[in-house]
Amino acid sequence: MFRRNLLPIVQPRPSESDGLIYVEGTEENGIILSGTVRSPETDNVYPVKNGYLDLLGRVSGAGNIANATNFLPGAGRGYEPLWRVRSLTLLTGAPFSNEREVEKISSLVDVERGGRFLDLGCSAGLYTRTLARKLEGTGEIVGIDISPSMLKEAARRASTIKPAARPSLARADAGRLPFADGSFAGAVCGGSLNEFADPARVLRETRRVLEPGGRLAIMGILRSRTTRGLRLQRFLSTSGIRFFEQDELHSLLDHAGFEPDLIEVQGSVFFAGATRQ
Ligand SMILES: C[S@@+](CC[C@H](N)C(=O)[O-])C[C@H]1O[C@@H](n2cnc3c(N)ncnc32)[C@H](O)[C@@H]1O
Repeated sequence: MFRRNLLPIVQPRPSESDGLIYVEGTEENGIILSGTVRSPETDNVYPVKNGYLDLLGRVSGAGNIANATNFLPGAGRGYEPLWRVRSLTLLTGAPFSNEREVEKISSLVDVERGGRFLDLGCSAGLYTRTLARKLEGTGEIVGIDISPSMLKEAARRASTIKPAARPSLARADAGRLPFADGSFAGAVCGGSLNEFADPARVLRETRRVLEPGGRLAIMGILRSRTTRGLRLQRFLSTSGIRFFEQDELHSLLDHAGFEPDLIEVQGSVFFAGATRQ
């Protein structure tokens, strides 16, 4: 599913400036459910199928082993029921529901003001779906991920939302965001900054596609303070996952052109809000 009205801001290559145009397919309430879109500049065509616009085609986009595991069959289906519903409770050491988490992220990104939002590394679409519902009538959201398995599941879960509020989903690399400068009012990132092969690059790209004053809200994992936690994180790091120190996070945001707010920490989880300079 991809909203037709968003095609003008989609620029699959940095050299493009015109956006995409609709070629043919099945459309409902302004949402392309399946079909083809085209770049008038390169003549490249991109399919909308399995519930998302695929801008990567044969390019995997995976930059480390952790990324590659999200391509496994069943990764998308299992992600929310097996891990996501309890991930913050396990990582903070206290009951922490998905509802509470998404409320925090919504408030940090200031979803109330409406406009266009972006979910970076959306997986099965927890933030994408919840923000899409909140934005009904005031804005819209695009969830991007490199994993076909995750995006297919995100589309399946989002299809229960009423058509007027449904999000757009695209297979795209957060390190090369396929959107025009200043296209979004805000961006959210749940756990993905730890997984991106090049988080500094993703943050610079996010700054580029945000409008001046645009908001960024991140939930992520900090370097553990316990020996046991550090041992586990050292093992996970071999797959490419990184765990940040608080000042490292601050500096990453600062260097990318964001003014970070106070970073809130609970257990090994952080919530950070930042404004695009
Ligand atoms: C920790 S999960 C995200 C969880 C999700 N945001 C949530 O709140 O449930 C990380 C996701 O980032 C995706 N990812 C990794 N590298 C990416 C990249 N360069 N561009 C886009 N997505 C990427 C992975 O495929 C995976 O689905």
